[in-house]
Amino acid sequence: MAPDPLRSATTTDDTAAIGRLGAVLAARGRPGPVALGPHGPHLVTSVADTRRVLTDAEVFRFPVDVTRRATTGEHAMVARLRPEQVARGTRTFEAELSRATTGWDGGGADDAMEVLRLPVARSTTDAVLGPLETMCRDHVADLVLDWVDSLAPIIAATRPPRRWSRARREERRARTALERSLEDLRVEQPTVSAVELAAGVQVPIAAGAWLLVLLAQHPQAAAAARRHDLAVEVAWETLRLRPPTWVTARMTARSVSLERGTLPAHAVVLVSPLLLGHLPDLLPSGSAGPEVFDPQRWVGGDVRPGSWLPFGAGPHACPGRSLGLAQLTALARWAADRHVVLTEPARIDQTRGIFPSPALLRCGAVPSSPEE
Ligand code: HEM
Repeated sequence: MAPDPLRSATTTDDTAAIGRLGAVLAARGRPGPVALGPHGPHLVTSVADTRRVLTDAEVFRFPVDVTRRATTGEHAMVARLRPEQVARGTRTFEAELSRATTGWDGGGADDAMEVLRLPVARSTTDAVLGPLETMCRDHVADLVLDWVDSLAPIIAATRPPRRWSRARREERRARTALERSLEDLRVEQPTVSAVELAAGVQVPIAAGAWLLVLLAQHPQAAAAARRHDLAVEVAWETLRLRPPTWVTARMTARSVSLERGTLPAHAVVLVSPLLLGHLPDLLPSGSAGPEVFDPQRWVGGDVRPGSWLPFGAGPHACPGRSLGLAQLTALARWAADRHVVLTEPARIDQTRGIFPSPALLRCGAVPSSPEE
């Protein structure tokens, strides 16, 4: 069997195969659905079944909301960002990235998860709500980050914390502050917009950090990407190997037959873009194996990137996907002008999606004879 980079110590993320991530990857190649425990959850393993779970919202319901409270399965629709919103968010991202990285360039090591916070939060805020005055935008972006931070211990906890726990109180405080500021801005649906903003901040920060970590871990692929101007391909390849939303859940409203197998009523069903991204059938024919970071595979291939559904599918597919991809592409262009080096092994943290921890990187000039 080919070496699995999520298990291999040489890729510096040797803790990755533990926990749920390891269990999901171990289901690769098995005809789904696979029960991960005696009573589930049930993991679907094919693209067809994943699409069915994500698109058939009548049968497959959202089990919890963003704060891990049970939902009725009803879920406010968030409109897909319009092209002018994406363009505005992308401009903001580029400007804020350049501002945030002045001290990083040629300086000491910094954590990419920290460096990318303001560029992403301000970019997404501008795209969703803008145009806003800079001070106002920055204030809202800070409140979004504050709420995202307060959600972290709730999402990471083994069991959802109790209503009056410190974590819940802190989360309520941060959410209320954000919703009040959105009300002051006369945003029509402050609760929906708050969720949209939060969803559009943590995930792109993690994806961007992965992009830089993968480039640092694979200097030859980074050099090829630089030579051939493969920023878009670097973005897709990052989302294939490290989709931040690597697994997402639904609950069956009734028993249901899938392509292969049947699920009972009230069962938790998992779909995993990470698992699908490792299926050889979804890669351009003749390209490197699924475990290899190779952005070049997407140049002129016979398969379009994205079939592993890193942005989901169906009625709840990511409404910010064009902005997310644009942010990552802009970041890959920025990285192409630099030599990015990991100063400590980056491990996979599975507590809220997947993100690299630490993601300590140093950035410098491209060496005159890079390792190509
Ligand atoms: C690289 C960046 C991004 C990735 C990989 C990503 C991934 C995803 C995925 C997989 C889902 C579906 C989850 C599910 O079905 O359970 C989703 C939903 C969502 N995303 Fe993104 N996302 C990104 C960027 C953004 C941005 C920039 C925004 C905001 C402008 C955003 C806002 C949302 C919202 C509001 C939802 C929930 C949609 C709904 O439930 O109807 N995302 N995202």
